[in-house]
Amino acid sequence: MEIQQVKQRFGIIGNSYGLNRAIDIAMQVAPTDLTVLITGESGTGKENFPKIIHQFSARKHGQYIAVNCGAIPEGTIDSELFGHEKGAFTGAHDARKGYFEVVNNGTIFLDEVAELPLSTQVRLLRILETGEFMRVGSSKVIKTDVRVVAATNVNVVKAIDEGKFREDLFYRLNTVPIKMPALRERKEDIHLLFRKFAKDSAEKFRMPALSLSNDAIELLTNYRWPGNIRQLKNVTEQISILEENRNIDSETLKKYLPIFEGSKLPALYKKIDEQTFNSEREILYKVLFDMKKDVTDLKKLVHDLMSKGTEATHLNEDNARLISNLYDEPDISLSEPPANDNSYIIPRKADNLGQIQDTEEFVEESLSLIDKEKELIVKALEKHGGKRKNAAENLGISERTLYRKIKEYNIDL
Ligand SMILES: Nc1ncnc2c1ncn2[C@@H]1O[C@H](COP(=O)(O)OP(=O)(O)OP(=O)(O)O)[C@@H](O)[C@H]1O
Ligand SMILES: [Mg+2]
Repeated sequence: MEIQQVKQRFGIIGNSYGLNRAIDIAMQVAPTDLTVLITGESGTGKENFPKIIHQFSARKHGQYIAVNCGAIPEGTIDSELFGHEKGAFTGAHDARKGYFEVVNNGTIFLDEVAELPLSTQVRLLRILETGEFMRVGSSKVIKTDVRVVAATNVNVVKAIDEGKFREDLFYRLNTVPIKMPALRERKEDIHLLFRKFAKDSAEKFRMPALSLSNDAIELLTNYRWPGNIRQLKNVTEQISILEENRNIDSETLKKYLPIFEGSKLPALYKKIDEQTFNSEREILYKVLFDMKKDVTDLKKLVHDLMSKGTEATHLNEDNARLISNLYDEPDISLSEPPANDNSYIIPRKADNLGQIQDTEEFVEESLSLIDKEKELIVKALEKHGGKRKNAAENLGISERTLYRKIKEYNIDL
């Protein structure tokens, strides 16, 4: 398969030498069983590569598991990776297979591998060298056939110097190194990526796509991008949401690049923390944040309902709080339920489920920023008995803007 086809299949944008070279190495090494270490700054796109390697290997019909080593607590990582026997530690009620046992004949992606504790690094080295390991609490040697691809954004040589990473493990993992260049080292990809993200955002938020003036393209291309592609993606989304004028010049772009003064991001977060809004844009931004939180709460709720059943007695206090947050109804409380009467929560739950069964529909609907803005304005006006001055103050916008919005949205109170 050609490099271009691989890019298409994995949604990889860019045509720089560094990117093409990394894909080429991944394809060449894929059919072998060699261990691969992918290094590169945060946000450079390392996570695509283990998937490419697995897909183009003879193991592609076997399992692929990605493990974020930095996200698993030190106390449980050995058990997660290598499994444990019943009674190996407090709470080990049953024996459990670890990823290395489950993925036999497949591929494991060890992301953030430099975060592994030293004792786990020893076990990993053994498995890489002999294919052997022991479950925690067992002395029985088990064999497994797993291909390891690892990634890290830390400077491993420095980590070795500091005694945080074993040198022998580094050489073993680094059999085939793939180095992802930083975005500033592949400038020709920057505008391509911007256009792709601008197009995606336009579709997501149902707005016209952004375009850049020549001076903005130059600024975009020469910026340092310390957060690499992840940062470029976020910046493009922010501009797409916040800028009314879809033709972006360098002055506007500057506001979104942290090194330049007057950058929007820190100021915006601060204002949200203080619950005050200085412009209508910030209201929209706040609404987006709130909606994201609501969706997360809903997901948790649905997950709990699905796993614990629909009995009201299973709805713990936490869920009651979520429902309360979501529907802004202060009267839901589990602390003093009506005696022998669960109905105070069941009908709500049925209603809730009715509304959230089709998640896609819910998300689509809630992305209508205009509706949300209108809703907030109506709420503020109602709260202040129609007094525009107070409502505007509460919303953090000028009275003039509020007046304009009332006319624009035909709000009649
Ligand atoms: N070439 C690319 N084309 C399109 N999107 C990309 C490309 N490279 C990365 N991305 C996107 O950029 C974001 C960051 O990429 P990824 O998560 O792979 O970074 P990473 O190198 O693993 O960073 P970290 O070290 O912080 O984990 C993701 O949303 C990813 O989809
Ligand atoms: Mg990553």
